[in-house]
Amino acid sequence: MANFNIIVGSVLGASEYVADALQETLHNQGHSVTIHLEPELQSIDKSTIWIVCTSTHGAGDLPDNIQPFSDQLKETELSSTAFLVVGLGDSSYDTYCNGAMTMQSLLEKAGATLLNKPIHIDVLTHPIPEDAAVEWLESWLANQPKILKG
Ligand SMILES: Cc1cc2nc3c(=O)[nH]c(=O)nc-3n(C[C@H](O)[C@H](O)[C@H](O)COP(=O)(O)O)c2cc1C
Repeated sequence: MANFNIIVGSVLGASEYVADALQETLHNQGHSVTIHLEPELQSIDKSTIWIVCTSTHGAGDLPDNIQPFSDQLKETELSSTAFLVVGLGDSSYDTYCNGAMTMQSLLEKAGATLLNKPIHIDVLTHPIPEDAAVEWLESWLANQPKILKG
């Protein structure tokens, strides 16, 4: 079993639903999970697995609730942190899933390790983004060493 922290960036709530679905999937496999809707760097254990689950708004911007956290990432060192990225976006925007890409880049610059290719979910073709996110997570979990298998 492992410890996960899900860091949510959301304006309209869709990414929160996705985070809830990911949490349920992880709980069902015996893992412990905390969801952060107002993420604060200091309160998130760096030795856990982070899942950043964020939409994009404005002109490729991060949602307001995750902006302070993204600023905190610029001034920290995260070499003991491993992470996954789930992006929600709309492919009719030039800045498709830019928020998720920004978070990935900030985490990598801070020295964190990306564990799996990020999933970018196009809400135009996935009216229920939870389904795509859960499928992606389950497939990743199925390929992990036994320690992650609950
Ligand atoms: C005002 C507005 C701006 C948006 N800008 C972008 C964008 O730049 N890039 C993108 O991929 N999606 C964009 N989207 C689509 C949202 O990311 C998408 O609807 C997502 O599901 C919203 O998730 P949330 O409810 O968690 O915020 C935008 C949506 C709105 C309403």
